[in-house]
Amino acid sequence: MKNILILFGHPALRRSTINAALREAVETLDGVTVHDLYASYPDFLIDVSHEQQLCERHDIIIFQHPFYWYSTPAIIKEWFDLVLEHGWAYGSTGNALHGKITFQALTAGGSQENYGPDGLNLFTIRELTAPFRATANLCGMDWLPPFAVLGIHQGLPDQARVRHAEAYRQTLIALRDNRIDLDQARAGEWLNQDLNGIINEV
Ligand SMILES: Cc1cc2nc3c(=O)[nH]c(=O)nc-3n(C[C@H](O)[C@H](O)[C@H](O)COP(=O)(O)O)c2cc1C
Repeated sequence: MKNILILFGHPALRRSTINAALREAVETLDGVTVHDLYASYPDFLIDVSHEQQLCERHDIIIFQHPFYWYSTPAIIKEWFDLVLEHGWAYGSTGNALHGKITFQALTAGGSQENYGPDGLNLFTIRELTAPFRATANLCGMDWLPPFAVLGIHQGLPDQARVRHAEAYRQTLIALRDNRIDLDQARAGEWLNQDLNGIINEV
C-alpha cells in the first residue's frame, strides 16, 4: 500500500463548490493525508523542514487546487519556491523526491472546448501544466497528467459533483493499492479521462 499526501491549496475554502467536495471524498481514506496549506500557513511562512519531512514520508504527492490564471493559487508557487531546495529536491545530491508519483488535481472554470488551439485559452490543460511536469522531471519524480474537473463556470449540478468526487476517491484508492496502469495513465490528457481504462480491477 502506498501513502498519499495531498497538498491542498484553496484560499477561500468556504466558497468552494468542487474542491471542498473532492477533498471530503478522500480525506478519511486509509493511507491519505490532506495537508491544507492556506490553513497551515495563513501568513505564508512555510515551515520548509516540516514540508520536506512530510514529502519524505509519502510515496505519492498530489497538489490539489483550483486553476488560477492558468496556474496555481499563490501558496503552491511559494511552496515550490521554498521547499524544493537544491541538494534536497534536485542537484547532484538532491534525490529526496526520486521515484515518487506526483500530479495535480485541478478544477477550472473554463470548459473543455475552451482548452485547445481553437478555444479562448489557446492551449490544452496538459500543455498549460507543462511547468509542473518539468519541475517534477527535474526532481526525478514520476509525473502523471492532472486529475481535472473543467467547466465549473457553466454550473455544477449536484449529480456531477458527486460523480467527480467518487472518481477522485476511486483514483486515489487505486493508486494507493497499486492498481493503476501507470503507462496508460501517463499517455492520457487527464487522469480521469478514462478511469476504467487505467484502473485494474482486483
Ligand atoms: C483568481 C482566479 C483566477 C482564475 N483563473 C482561472 C483560469 O485561469 N482558468 C480557468 O479555467 N478558471 C479560472 N478561475 C476559475 C476557478 O478555477 C474556478 O472558480 C474554481 O476551479 C472552482 O473551484 P472551487 O469551487 O473549489 O473554488 C479563476 C478563479 C479565480 C478566483
